[in-house]
Amino acid sequence: MARAIEWLDGKLRILDQSKLPREQIFADLDNYHDVVLAIKEMRIRGAPAIGVTAAYGIALGASGIKTASKDEFLAQLNKVMQAFAASRPTAVNLFQAIDRMKKAARGDGVAEIKNSLVNEAKRIHQEEITATKQLSQLGAELIKDGFTVLTHCNAGSLATAGYGTALGVIKAAKEQGKKVSVFVTETRPLLQGARLTAWELKQAKIPFTLITDSMAGYFMKRGEIDCVIVGADRIAANGYTANKIGTYTLAVLANAHGIPFYVAAPTTTIDLSLTSGYQIPIEERSPEEVTHIQGVPIAPEGIRAANPAFDITPNSYITAIITEKGIIKGPYTEGLNRGQ
Ligand code: MRU
Repeated sequence: MARAIEWLDGKLRILDQSKLPREQIFADLDNYHDVVLAIKEMRIRGAPAIGVTAAYGIALGASGIKTASKDEFLAQLNKVMQAFAASRPTAVNLFQAIDRMKKAARGDGVAEIKNSLVNEAKRIHQEEITATKQLSQLGAELIKDGFTVLTHCNAGSLATAGYGTALGVIKAAKEQGKKVSVFVTETRPLLQGARLTAWELKQAKIPFTLITDSMAGYFMKRGEIDCVIVGADRIAANGYTANKIGTYTLAVLANAHGIPFYVAAPTTTIDLSLTSGYQIPIEERSPEEVTHIQGVPIAPEGIRAANPAFDITPNSYITAIITEKGIIKGPYTEGLNRGQ
C-alpha cells in the first residue's frame, strides 16, 4: 500500500490523489504554500489526512522562517497557521491539528520551537495511525461473516494517512477471517469512490462492485446490502455528522430499508464545541467540478451548478458511531461526551 503522506528529510512527500488511479505520482513539498494548495486542490484529502498534512505543513512553514527573534518568528508562524485554517472549512481534524501545533510552539529559542513543531506533527501522525487501527478492529465486530457493506467516498488509508476508518473496518473484518464484499458508490463529483476506494480495495484483494450513486436504493431494495459504513469530516456533540455529499441520502435510504448505518471516525473528528450538526460549515466548491469530469466538460457552457462538498446526517439515521475509544450508540450527546 502506497503511503499517502511521508515526512522525509524535512520535506513532505504526498501521493497525489487527484491523479489516482491512472498515475501514481509522489510530490515532494518543501514550502508551506504548496502544502496549503495541495489541500485546497484535494491532491491530499480526507479529514484525518488533512489534519496530519496541515501539521507537517506548519512544521515546514516554521522551518522556512528566517529570523532569530522569537517574537517575529511567532508572528510569522501565526500567518502560516492562518493559511492552513483557510484551506478547507469542514473537516475539524484540520483545526484540531492547528490548535495542537499552536500549543507545541514553545521553547527557549527559534531552533527549539522548530524542532518541537516537527516532533508534534510526527506525534499527530502516529496517533492517527494508532486510532484508525484501533477503531477498525472495534468496528469489525459489527461485520458478520458473509456481509456485503456499502461505503461512500474514500475513507481508507489515503484519507487517513493511517489504516482507514470505514475502509479500515472492512479491512479488519477481512483480517479477522470473515468473508466480506463491498458496494462502492462512485461519489460524484470528484469520484473518490470510483478512483480511490476501488484502488484501495483492489490492492487489499477485497471483492467489490462499483455502482453509480443513484443505484444505492436499487441494491438496498433487492436485499443485497447488509450495512452501510461511512467516514466523517466532523461530528457535532449531538451526533449529527458531516460527511461527503450524498451521505445523507444513503442514510435516509438505509433507514427506509431497515439497514444499519455506521459512521466510523477517530475522536479527532468529533467537535464537542458544536451542539448541533447544522452549525458545521459546509464547503462549497467550484461548479466546474460538477459541469466537468476530470477536466472534460459534460454540460452546456455557462450554466449554473451547485457544489456543496458535504452534507449533514441527523443522529436518528445513525445506528452507531465507531471510534477508537468505543462504539457509541444513541443518545449521542451523552455517549460522545463520555467518549472524550
Ligand atoms: O472532500 P473529501 O474527499 O476530503 O471528503 C472526504 C470524506 O468525506 C471522507 O468520507 C471523510 O473525510 C472521512 S475520511 C476517513
